[in-house]
Amino acid sequence: MFTLIEKTTKFSSKENAVYLICDAAKLKPYGFSADEIGYIKTQFSKNETKCFAFNRLAKWDFVQFIKKDGKDAAAVETCRKAGDGLLSRINGNKISKIGIFDVEDNPVNSLAFAEGMALGNYQFIKYKRNKDEKKSFNTLETISLVSKKITDKSVAELNILTEAVYKSRDLVNEPVAFLTAKKLAEEAEKLCRKEGAKVEVMNKAKIETLKMGGLLGVNRGSIDPPTFTVIEWKPAKHSNKHPYIFVGKGVVFDTGGINLKTGNNMGDMKCDMSGAAAVIGTMFAIAKAKLPVHVIGLIPATDNRPDGNAQVPGDVITMYDGTTVEVLNTDAEGRLILGDALAYAKKYKPELVVDLATLTGAAHAAIGKYAMVAMGSKCEKFMEELKASGNYVCERLVEFPLWDDYRELIKSEVADIKNIGGSYAGAISAGKFLECFTDYPWIHLDIAGPAFMDSRDSYRGQGGTGWGIRILFDFIKGKVK
Ligand code: BES
Ligand code: ZN
Ligand code: ZN
Repeated sequence: MFTLIEKTTKFSSKENAVYLICDAAKLKPYGFSADEIGYIKTQFSKNETKCFAFNRLAKWDFVQFIKKDGKDAAAVETCRKAGDGLLSRINGNKISKIGIFDVEDNPVNSLAFAEGMALGNYQFIKYKRNKDEKKSFNTLETISLVSKKITDKSVAELNILTEAVYKSRDLVNEPVAFLTAKKLAEEAEKLCRKEGAKVEVMNKAKIETLKMGGLLGVNRGSIDPPTFTVIEWKPAKHSNKHPYIFVGKGVVFDTGGINLKTGNNMGDMKCDMSGAAAVIGTMFAIAKAKLPVHVIGLIPATDNRPDGNAQVPGDVITMYDGTTVEVLNTDAEGRLILGDALAYAKKYKPELVVDLATLTGAAHAAIGKYAMVAMGSKCEKFMEELKASGNYVCERLVEFPLWDDYRELIKSEVADIKNIGGSYAGAISAGKFLECFTDYPWIHLDIAGPAFMDSRDSYRGQGGTGWGIRILFDFIKGKVK
């Protein structure tokens, strides 16, 4: 269920509440006794982000310390995590509505607190049937921001972003038994058309006519057809001459293909369309917020499986732009479908193309779940802007190089390029491969680390995290003139 965030100036003193404060003395007007305030003062030592709980029998009052003047990215992230941190008490006490009092008149911190709470409250329970287990589902439905300073627009935007992240997580968490490439395209259609975006889904016949050899090559082992979805948001008034394009890897399940994954390496591979889910969520959010910027989302989608007619190591395929690729490992499939999409993006003469993909285990190994690996060309200014957005929303990126030297890693003896590099710099050789299909400002984001969590990670939750939406939305917001 969606967790709604609303704004109010009137909130009944009989309802559950959390007071965000830097100074305990400010609690006086909210019905706290001198003893209670004195107690909080003695417990609080500087710079801590403590939370106190007061059981009023009919309701709960929580007091959450936040850092004064906390406007830097780290302080805002502390607020998101504190909002998430309170959830166990809220849901543990079966609370359905909570007021957040912006006692210090600090909208940034209070919105971040609500954001962490709303995002952390997500659950994927569609397939749960056990009655006893249902009793322990999250109860929180409404977060009521009690504030004079918070604007209606910022609350509306936060709801849009939360909804986009929820939808994106749902898509990632759905198994391939439900979410085939066709279904992924239909979900994109359903979500984005409703908000006024134009959505075109190209089917297998169309993809064949276009000669997208990368997407068709990966799809050869599948009994389900591939799709290529184009989502366009072009409001009458837009600030950019050429579109911003987001490309998302939509491998709805990655078995590795004939180079079958082994051991535990396959278990989470329903998450291999997290890039696509992030692009769908971002397009949904941009359209719903009616941002006056021309943006296009491209989603090549298929599953990657072994079969009688699946592509095999040594096969040579011809990509959409005519480049020939020696497929030496069928598990390096993401770059094949993305190569076609990146080449297709040229026709729009884009301002910038950003692709998001759970592309390499090497990116995950390099920086863990904490950030994504970024590479790019002709994009210095955009890279800095994206870094700043990422720092602010805490979807951070670390830039890796794309020096010419790495080009030799993907040299092929028989074709123009091959689809794997050597034993080292795996994230970069993948980036180098993708670069071959671009001639415009381009940024590649390898989200293999942060896209999916095996166990709960604060407000990012467990399973699909929806990573990528908040950074891209913030970046596009920066393009509104
Ligand atoms: N989907 C995987 C990458 C991945 C790994 C995503 C872990 C999320 C978590 C990708 O298609 C893949 O299998 N990459 C190979 C490339 C290799 C064969 C060159 C990898 O990283 O091992
Ligand atoms: Zn793979
Ligand atoms: Zn993959």
